Amino acid sequence: MNVATTIPLPAPLGLLAELTHRCPLACPYCSNPLALEGRDSELSAAEWARVFREAAGLGVLQLHLSGGEPGARRDLTEITHAAHEAGLYTNLITSAIGFTRDRLAELRAAGLDHVQISIQDTEPAASDRIAGYDGAHARKLAIARTVAELGLALTINVVLHRANIARLRDLVGLAAALGAGRVELAHAQYYGWALRNRAALMPTRAQVEAATADLAAMRARYAGTLAIDAVVPDYYARRPKPCMGGWGRRSLNVTPSGRVLPCHAAETIPGLRFWSVRDRNLAEIWTRSPAFQAFRGTDWMRAPCRSCERREIDFGGCRCQAMLIAGDAAEADPACALSPLHGRMLAMAEEAAGTDDVYVYRAPAPRAPARALDGATAGEPPPP
Ligand code: SF4
Ligand code: FES
Repeated sequence: MNVATTIPLPAPLGLLAELTHRCPLACPYCSNPLALEGRDSELSAAEWARVFREAAGLGVLQLHLSGGEPGARRDLTEITHAAHEAGLYTNLITSAIGFTRDRLAELRAAGLDHVQISIQDTEPAASDRIAGYDGAHARKLAIARTVAELGLALTINVVLHRANIARLRDLVGLAAALGAGRVELAHAQYYGWALRNRAALMPTRAQVEAATADLAAMRARYAGTLAIDAVVPDYYARRPKPCMGGWGRRSLNVTPSGRVLPCHAAETIPGLRFWSVRDRNLAEIWTRSPAFQAFRGTDWMRAPCRSCERREIDFGGCRCQAMLIAGDAAEADPACALSPLHGRMLAMAEEAAGTDDVYVYRAPAPRAPARALDGATAGEPPPP
C-alpha cells in the first residue's frame, strides 16, 4: 500500500485546524471521533502560531479554524491574530453559540476574514432538537446577522439528512435572508458519531431525488447573488466524490493535540501512523509522513480504479468509506457503480432510510437555554 506517487507533489491549499473538541452542541451527525481529545492535550496558541507559519511556508492559502466549537478557546483572538500575521485567509467554522457582537468585532480586528455558521433547520424546534440545545437556533440567526453587519464574509452551512432535506429551498432562502454570500449543503457523512445515527439520519432515495430538483431550482433562482455548494449523498451516487480533492493532495487536518491527518476521518483506517506537529515540521509531515503517502496519487490503486479513466478525477473516492463498507481502504469507494460492493451499499442505505428516527446524542441533550461560552462553561466533551 505504501508506495511513492508518480505525479509531482503539489502544495496543500488548505489547513483545517481543529482547535478543540469541546462543543456545547450535541448534533447526532457529528463526524468527530467517538473518543474526543481532552482540553489538557490541546495545542497552545503559541504552538498553533508556529503551525500557521509553517503552513504558509508550505503554500497553504486558506485556514479553517474549527472544532468542536472554536469559540470554546479563550485564546481564539490570539490564535486568529497569529493566523493573520502568517498571511493566511482565515475562516472561522462555528456553531455561533458563545459569540457576541463584541467578540466578533475583536476577531475581525485580529484579522478574521470569513465566518461559516451551521444552521440545522428552518424550524426553531426542529433545529434545536437536532443540535441538542434549546434556544440555539435563535442565537445562530442573531449572530449570523451580526457577522453580515460587521462586514465579515458569511457562509451558511447545512448538514442535510432525513429530517430537514425536504426544506432545502427554505434553507437556501434563509441563508440569503441572513446576508450570506455562500451556502453549503452537505449531506451527512457517516463517520465518527454520525455512524451511530445512520439509520435515523439517512434520507430516502425519493427525498434525495426531490432535493436534487430543489437544488437546481435554487441555483437558477439565486444565480449571481448566492453561491450554492452541494455535496451529493454518497449512498445513492453512481460515482464517488473526489474526497478531500485526493488523499494528501490539497489539504491537511490538524487535531486538537497536533496529529496531522489527510482527512477528518483518517484515524478510522487501521494501521496508519500519524505524525504530530509537536514532533516535526509541517513540511516534513506533508512530504514524508507514512499516512499521507499511503494513498497519495494512483499507484496504490487496485481494479477497477487502476485502469479507470476517472482515477485522476475522483482518486478512487473516499478511503474512509472504502474502509467502512469494503473493509479495506485500498478498495474502490463502494459509492462507485463499478465497485462490486455498490449494490450492497445501496441496499444498506435503503434499509437504513426505512427505520427509526431516534437520535443518539453524545450525552443527554442539554435543556438549558443557549448561553455565552467563557471557557469554563464551554461544555467539556461528554463521554462518548
Ligand atoms: Fe473512480 Fe475507481 Fe470508480 Fe473509476 S472505478 S470511477 S476511479 S472509484
Ligand atoms: Fe477520509 Fe474521505 S473521509 S478519505
